[in-house]
Amino acid sequence: MLDKSEISRMVRAYVENLSPEGCQEKQWIVAANWKMNMTAAETEHFLDEFLKGKRYSNIRTIIFPPFPYLYLFAKRLRYEKIAFGAQDVSFQDKGAYTGEVSGTMLRDLCCSYAICGHSERRRYHGESSEEVAKKAKAALKVQLTPVICIGETQDERNQGRYREVLSAQIEAVKAALGKDIEKTIFAYEPVWAIGTGVIPTMEQVAETHGFIISCIGCGKVPVLYGGSANEKNVTELSRVPGVSGFLIGGAGLKAESFGKIHELLGEVR
Ligand code: PGA
Repeated sequence: MLDKSEISRMVRAYVENLSPEGCQEKQWIVAANWKMNMTAAETEHFLDEFLKGKRYSNIRTIIFPPFPYLYLFAKRLRYEKIAFGAQDVSFQDKGAYTGEVSGTMLRDLCCSYAICGHSERRRYHGESSEEVAKKAKAALKVQLTPVICIGETQDERNQGRYREVLSAQIEAVKAALGKDIEKTIFAYEPVWAIGTGVIPTMEQVAETHGFIISCIGCGKVPVLYGGSANEKNVTELSRVPGVSGFLIGGAGLKAESFGKIHELLGEVR
C-alpha cells in the first residue's frame, strides 16, 4: 500500500502530465449520463437549447443518451464539437446475444465513448469487475474510449473498506487491458453520492482520487468525479487536485444546468 507522500507525488505528476508545459489551459471533461431518461422530443429540445450556448476550448463535452436516441446525436452533432457515447457496450463482437449492443454498432452511430460498469449496471444487472473489464477491452478494440466507473457503497465507506473495493475494481481492468489502460477514462462515483444530493468532503475526494491515480499507476488517465455533481458544487470540486472533470446525472438532463456547469468550468483554467 502506498503512503500519503507517495500518493501526493503521483497526483502532482499526474496533474502536470495532463497540463504539460506549453499547454496553456487545463482541459476538463464534462460528461452527461442521461440514464433511462428523456424522450426523442426532449432530446431534440435539449440539443436545440444546449447548442445555442457558448463552447469552451478547455472543455471536452460528452453526452451519453439512451441507445435509441444515439441516432439523433449522430444526425445533429456530426459537425459539432460535442462528443457522445453509449451507456453500456457488449463485450461480445456479434451473435446470438439478445438485447446486447456491440462496439461496432456504436461506431456505426458515430459514438466515440462507452460507459463501462456504471454502479447501476453493477447493482441491477450483476456486472462483475471482470465483466466490466471485458467491456472496456471490447470498446478499445473498436476505438471507443471506455469511461470506466468505479465506486464504493456507503457500507464499504463506513467500514473503511473503500480502498480495498476501489483497488479490486481497478485491478480487474489492469489485468484485462495491461498498458492499454492509458487509453481509458475513469470515473470515481461513490455509490452513496449518486442521485442523493450528498457529496463527499473535498478532503475525501482529494484522498480518494489520489489513491485511484496511484492504483491506475499511469499519469495519463483522466479521473472524473461523479455523484450529485451540479452547478452548485463543480467549482469547488474542480479545485481538488486529481479531478479531471465530471460525470453528471441529474444536472445533465437540463440544457440550462449542463450549460451553467460549462460556463463555470470554462472560467477555471
Ligand atoms: P447524479 O448521477 O449526478 O444524478 O448523482 C451521476 C451518475 O450516476 O453518473
